[in-house]
Amino acid sequence: MVEITVCVGSSCHLKGAYEVIKEFERLIPFYGLENSVELKAGFCLGRCTEGVTVKVGDRYFTSVAPKDVAGLLEAVKNGNWKED
Ligand code: FES
Repeated sequence: MVEITVCVGSSCHLKGAYEVIKEFERLIPFYGLENSVELKAGFCLGRCTEGVTVKVGDRYFTSVAPKDVAGLLEAVKNGNWKED
């Protein structure tokens, strides 16, 4: 199970975190990853100046936009984030 945390702290919220979450919710079933990923909303991940921050497994991604979500999920699907 790969944990995906989208920051919904105030800065990321203003930069569109909600749209990013919506895109994850839309695409997780599209990629058949319902049983492989756990989507969470998190509080400030400490990168507020860098746009919407998303943590996938133990890696951080900044300036995440809805258009980036497919690429992240494809990487997860391809096994780049093998975790227990
Ligand atoms: S508010 Fe998202 S990293 Fe701080």
